[in-house]
Amino acid sequence: MADAEFKNIIVTGAAGFIGSNFAHWVVDNQPDVHVTVLDALTYAGNRENLAGIPEKRLTFVHGDICDGPLVDELFKRADACVHFAAESHNDNSIANPAPFLRTNVEGTYTLLEAAHRHGTRFHHISTDEVYGDLALDDPARFTEETPYRPSSPYSSTKASSDMLVRAWVRTYGVKATISNCSNNYGPRQHIEKFIPRQITNILCGIRPKLYGDGLNVRDWIHTEDHSSAVWEILTRGRIGETYLIGADGERSNIDVLRSILAAMGKEPDDFDWVRDRPGHDRRYAIDSTKLRTELGWLPKHTDFAEGLAATIAWYADNEAWWRGAKEATEAKYAAQGQ
Ligand code: NAD
Ligand code: DAU
Repeated sequence: MADAEFKNIIVTGAAGFIGSNFAHWVVDNQPDVHVTVLDALTYAGNRENLAGIPEKRLTFVHGDICDGPLVDELFKRADACVHFAAESHNDNSIANPAPFLRTNVEGTYTLLEAAHRHGTRFHHISTDEVYGDLALDDPARFTEETPYRPSSPYSSTKASSDMLVRAWVRTYGVKATISNCSNNYGPRQHIEKFIPRQITNILCGIRPKLYGDGLNVRDWIHTEDHSSAVWEILTRGRIGETYLIGADGERSNIDVLRSILAAMGKEPDDFDWVRDRPGHDRRYAIDSTKLRTELGWLPKHTDFAEGLAATIAWYADNEAWWRGAKEATEAKYAAQGQ
């Protein structure tokens, strides 16, 4: 299969966690590619996340993926779009689903329409949560054939957006692929999420918070490995196909929390049990055989303890990046009993 060559790519949501890591990865690894970021700078977006990228490699557009005329203008000048922009946090979707429907469903629709009009290659970033959850004792893992069974308002909007992409491929011939990835960790993740919330709690002298019985399992992947997988799929994936991205990183929440506590010099029980998330998915697990065999992708960050230590160091060294959001984030959780 010949590699597709793209010179001008739009990356939506690249002021957020995974999108910004992808933008840095592309600039560092693909010297001929220009990145145009389209990001609305919601509470989760931060222009600083793109700091260090040379001006000549990046165009930053502050705008909304639901803005049809703006999106159309940008697609005229691009040969591919990688779509990360989303409302991404489950707990927020439970408290207020409306922005999730707008951005995740209407926003994806707006981009697909532009991709159709301009014949633009489109890669849609999705999540393993569209498959619902697995029991702790189930030997199965998710594959590309697993039926969709989303549990939360967030995951149901991501499932909806995946369905739109599939329909636009089949009906209009849009040149799209989809990837469904497991839980990412690494630098620049918003402190509402599990790992950075606990790290920054400890840095602030607040006890970490564990939902439910702490036995829920997530399948962790370093965000840099997600980036390299997305690039392989964008340039060498088969149009119309879905690829699952995962790095065999299944861990229970209590194990992850105890690893953070140990790495930060705390005792194993230095945390609070808090109210469980309604509808809390029990376990996610990815079988990424298709991606590995078809495209030869392999993760590089296979030592979780090492990746976690680097992530802890990043939050300790970048307090100015997260400090301003800490009080409001914790106040929101406290109001929910979490
Ligand atoms: P994030 O919340 O950190 O960032 C989302 C970004 O999208 C922000 O910069 C925000 O400003 C921007 N955005 C939101 N609404 C927008 C709109 N209407 N128009 C333009 N920009 C908008 O999210 P993340 O954790 O980096 O996730 C990125 C993508 O990856 C999402 O599609 C998510 O579903 C998917 N995903 C995330 C994970 C994970 O572990 N975090 C795993 C698998 C897939
Ligand atoms: O699986 C991919 C998904 O991973 C992505 O689609 C989502 O965008 C991303 O947010 C993430 O979803 P989760 O709900 O799994 O991530 P979160 O960081 O919110 O929580 C991880 C686990 O930790 C989950 O079982 C809930 C638990 N948790 C979370 C927080 C914030 C706690 O026990 N305590 C907490 O304080």
